[in-house]
Amino acid sequence: MPVTTEGKIEAIGRVLNDQSRPLKERFRALFTLRNLGGPVAIKCIQQCFGDPSALLKHELAYCLGQMQDSRAVPVLINILKDKRQEPMVRHEAGEALGAIASKEVKEVLEKYANDDVIEVAETCQLALGRITWLTELAALENLPENPYASVDPAPPSQETDVSTLKRILLDENQSLFERYRAMFSLRNLNTPESIVALGEGLKAGSALFRHEVAFVLGQLQHDTSIPYLQESLEDTAENEMVRHECAEALGAIASPVCFEILKKYLEDEKRVVKESCEIALDMCEYENSPEFQYANTLLQVLLATTVMLPQRHRKTRMALLLADGRGVSFEELKLEYTSANSLHQDCWKDLIEHWKYV
Ligand SMILES: [Fe+2]
Ligand SMILES: [Fe+2]
Repeated sequence: MPVTTEGKIEAIGRVLNDQSRPLKERFRALFTLRNLGGPVAIKCIQQCFGDPSALLKHELAYCLGQMQDSRAVPVLINILKDKRQEPMVRHEAGEALGAIASKEVKEVLEKYANDDVIEVAETCQLALGRITWLTELAALENLPENPYASVDPAPPSQETDVSTLKRILLDENQSLFERYRAMFSLRNLNTPESIVALGEGLKAGSALFRHEVAFVLGQLQHDTSIPYLQESLEDTAENEMVRHECAEALGAIASPVCFEILKKYLEDEKRVVKESCEIALDMCEYENSPEFQYANTLLQVLLATTVMLPQRHRKTRMALLLADGRGVSFEELKLEYTSANSLHQDCWKDLIEHWKYV
């Protein structure tokens, strides 16, 4: 019998949809729903698209894409089409459709590949590129598994030479898809040189491209990227989507320097930036805190955030310790995690791996 009942999922959905609750709590509820997956979780996420926070809504779309469940496609198509939604929300809906990549999404992506909003148009072009790549080249290229447990908008390039990759990354005459491929290859290399190359990418190309560079730097969680991220966050003339992603990347790195930088922008004029700093500081605190801040929430929240948050191995261990303290056995965890979607399975793999060390 699954440990998570529909009623519990709906309870988490109520946290997500409750505008009187702090944003950080609502984000945690969202990540939980993402990792639990299934139609009830999708319904709870869908209900939240009327929220006034663009930051939260773009994360809803992102999570629906990462869940890789084609039942979310109609929801995402509606958001992509809805011009009242902010560009970053529509962008994320387009990207999520590309992440799900089911047959029915191609037509709508083709239509919006010419959208007036450049971020939306470019996202749909990339998503179409990814779908073409999946159908024509993925099997031939046989790339290694993504070490970051994310469904990326483009696959990494097969090239592994940093200077070649950097040249492609910064070359505005190359297609966006090829530049994204270079970006993900540089991320996967994860060397000081590749991080510096990515840092330089924060100043090159469209807002969409720059925001993705910031996102990738957040995944890498390396101190080397702090000055680059700081510069873009502090540049009030920079696109807010880019500044938002820089803030969250700093939150993921979570060093004391990041803490100080983020605090300065807690009252930024741009709502998206201000809220990003709020969420990023929450991540920072979580990264740096030895105690179990989530001890009063459902165990699932802890388990789910092990995938979402950086340094997930450490978090997994913490989740296991808590589970252990509450008398939740390994068998019970196993029961919960065997009937899961792919993201869930990743979490499960972590759990098995780390159970040994607890
Ligand atoms: Fe995005
Ligand atoms: Fe974002």
